[in-house]
Amino acid sequence: MMVAALVARLRATLGESGLLTEPGDIAPFSTDWRGLYRGRAAAVARPASTAELAETVRLCAEAGVPVVPQGGNTSMVGGAVPAGDGSEIVVTLARMNRVRGIDAIDLSITLEAGVTLKAAQDAAAEAGCLLPLSIAAEGTAQIGGVLATNAGGNNTVRYGNARDLVLGLEVVLADGSVWNGLRRLRKDNTGYCLRQLFVGSEGTLGIITAAVLKLVPRPVETEVALCAVPSPEAALRLFTRLHRADPASVQAFEYMAGTGMGFVLRHIPGAVLPLAAPSPHYALVELATPRAGAGLRAALEAALEAALEADDITDAVVAESGAQRAAIWKLREEHAEAQKREGASIKNDVSVPVSRVPDLIRRASAACAALMPGIRPVPFGHMGDGNIHFNLEQPVDMHAADFLARDHEIMDAVGEIVRDLDGSFSAEHGVGKLKPYMMPLWRGGAELEAMRRIKLALDPSGLLNPGKVLP
Ligand code: FAD
Ligand code: MLT
Ligand code: ZN
Repeated sequence: MMVAALVARLRATLGESGLLTEPGDIAPFSTDWRGLYRGRAAAVARPASTAELAETVRLCAEAGVPVVPQGGNTSMVGGAVPAGDGSEIVVTLARMNRVRGIDAIDLSITLEAGVTLKAAQDAAAEAGCLLPLSIAAEGTAQIGGVLATNAGGNNTVRYGNARDLVLGLEVVLADGSVWNGLRRLRKDNTGYCLRQLFVGSEGTLGIITAAVLKLVPRPVETEVALCAVPSPEAALRLFTRLHRADPASVQAFEYMAGTGMGFVLRHIPGAVLPLAAPSPHYALVELATPRAGAGLRAALEAALEAALEADDITDAVVAESGAQRAAIWKLREEHAEAQKREGASIKNDVSVPVSRVPDLIRRASAACAALMPGIRPVPFGHMGDGNIHFNLEQPVDMHAADFLARDHEIMDAVGEIVRDLDGSFSAEHGVGKLKPYMMPLWRGGAELEAMRRIKLALDPSGLLNPGKVLP
């Protein structure tokens, strides 16, 4: 069937408001947040229910037309962008955005895939709970996208990744059939764990339409501190000091280099450094507990004092209010946006064992400087779980296109060091369209072959998000 005939059938199924075909309407769905890829969707389907989505996928399968699932379109690896030849249909989950239920005793929340992560957090908070998943894109990223990428973010150090929070899923399969696995059981050993297969599959195995996620009790004490630290090694020692004292209270431990902080202060309106002077390195600490009277503030101050005496920090500020906590977090959360405003960047979302983070930062900085004089390393990220965004900003006097043309060379140089440190080339952003070329080197042999067989079993015609993840 021609794509045009399929579009007519989709319009009949979804109605006028359920299908976008005008170039101006589909353009935002055809490019990515970083502006690395410009695709062209044949149409954008906007189903409002699981039944409509299933019928959409069934019609596409019948016509042999590929489908690209899209959530908030905040992928850092071009994962939700359609091909450039108008041969693919984008399916956005945006209209499937209902919170179906919350149970504060089971500590679970049932959500449709198009609920934004922020809306899900707010719903949990209203019920006196915490959805312990936090990323800078949470206002836009959706539950389906967050699960499809197995997002990590700021709270992985304490609660794990998105994968660790999933109790149940509802998924539309490649032929349009629906798997309803919306169970909220803490124990369920009944064959292969299908839900974990779909988590992190980046839209290549099925389309997530709803999920049951774990919640935790909402913290009653939260403390946030921004510390100036003399080196990545000192930041790691500060983390170890806090984590050993009480691992259950370390909600986040983020590292930032002075370069990235400089970009935030320069480009983000209202960003102010609450310390006496800029530092070459910073650590952001968040401690939290649901235990009333736990004395977190005193514990944090004692730890910071000891760190100051040991020369592991040179200055620190502890937030005195919710507004100050938010202002400190803003300095961290705006890193990606500030980097974008500064110019072109090459991102390495890598992970290494936590103990090796300082080695990674030093060795990768030296390697990149040797490859390209004037390149500006912007390492920052989730030090407490070993995930550093070893991002690189273009030299000030270089053309953005010339810089980006060398992305593989630079990513591979960083990758070589990451391999040597027993790390991964994608910690939390996934593989998407940007990195499938790395898969044979990093996951080749039996592992990649097993992934190919899984893909073939669940999507034999290769219609779900082609060109992503697998080379
Ligand atoms: P999209 O970008 O729309 O899609 C991502 C992938 O999932 C694509 O392959 C898409 O096809 C697939 N997909 C989307 N919805 C579905 C569905 N319902 N079913 C099946 N497949 C689907 N990521 C982190 O992990 N940690 C961070 O700290 C973090 N910080 C970020 C900060 C900024 C400023 C930005 C722009 C991005 C950040 N990201 C981070 C990356 C991004 O936000 C995450 O990957 C997020 O999980 C993507 O969600 P989304 O809804 O935008 O998905
Ligand atoms: C973040 O943690 O802010 C993002 O994952 C960052 C990025 O790679 O730019
Ligand atoms: Zn991140």
